[in-house]
Amino acid sequence: PRVVVLAGGLSHEREVSLRSGRRVAEALRSAGVDVTVHDVDADLVPALEALRPDLVWPLLHGASGEDGSVRDVVQLLGLRLLGTGPRSSRVAWSKPIGKTVAARAGLVTPEFVTLPQSLFRELGAGRVLDTIAERLGLPVVVKPSKGGSALGVSLVTTPEELPRAMVECFSYSDTALVERAVAGVEVAASVVDLGEGPVALPPVEIVAEGPYDYDARYNPGRVEYFTPARLDPAVLDEVGRVAVAAHRALGLARLSRADLIVDDAGVVHFLEVNVAPGMTETSLFPQSAEAAGYNLGDLYRSLVRASLA
Ligand code: DAL
Ligand code: MG
Repeated sequence: PRVVVLAGGLSHEREVSLRSGRRVAEALRSAGVDVTVHDVDADLVPALEALRPDLVWPLLHGASGEDGSVRDVVQLLGLRLLGTGPRSSRVAWSKPIGKTVAARAGLVTPEFVTLPQSLFRELGAGRVLDTIAERLGLPVVVKPSKGGSALGVSLVTTPEELPRAMVECFSYSDTALVERAVAGVEVAASVVDLGEGPVALPPVEIVAEGPYDYDARYNPGRVEYFTPARLDPAVLDEVGRVAVAAHRALGLARLSRADLIVDDAGVVHFLEVNVAPGMTETSLFPQSAEAAGYNLGDLYRSLVRASLA
């Protein structure tokens, strides 16, 4: 089959996506798959019409890649897509909506409020802080309601830190998700479905010295990873169960990664899912796949084959 990997694009995560795209393409090629990487720009439609691949694998991170719009275009052109369709992508891309769907499916997710920038301006930092203190207490995590790679994310432990966190957040999204900060072990649980239903891969435990921010994510050596996470076997199973439950509840397809926190009592808190998890040298999905014993080229080829079956 001929596969086109879509990468790049114009989101804040363009560089990350180019790295993911290159790395997946290399692995696929090593497994004998005919693959082209296309850097997404305004020529997407004519480019796809000229290439007419058997399968399109969107490895775009951030807006347009994960919000479903490019996936819509692929489907409108009558081409097959590897992974989650446009509608479910759109749901998962919104952290508040994703959390709400996960909570309805019975998963535990930290309490939160959403705050549009216009309302923040209208109320001012003081009143917003009062509301947050009353509804959630400190510390909280302030995140763009849509976004990736921890861009615009801050931990707020004192009232003085709130205004700056909001400004950072609103430079990436016009709505903030303010979430109660849960203390515990940060884990990333990837899921694959090779045609027989979603299966959890060994989760990665993330131990960062400072914040697990953009620089920490993509510069080797700033973070220690443990795969599988150093958790009790029963808790590890629960992490996998939660990741698969989130994958199903959100209608995801073929591959995903759930970002979770395991608290001291072993409760697994759902933060979000990613329909286009990073596939770079330092990313989490490939670490889980390798820990499960997969050769990346073979696994990606299996994802391709399952998508064409
Ligand atoms: N948004 C980045 C690519 C990730 O989730 O891995
Ligand atoms: Mg994400």
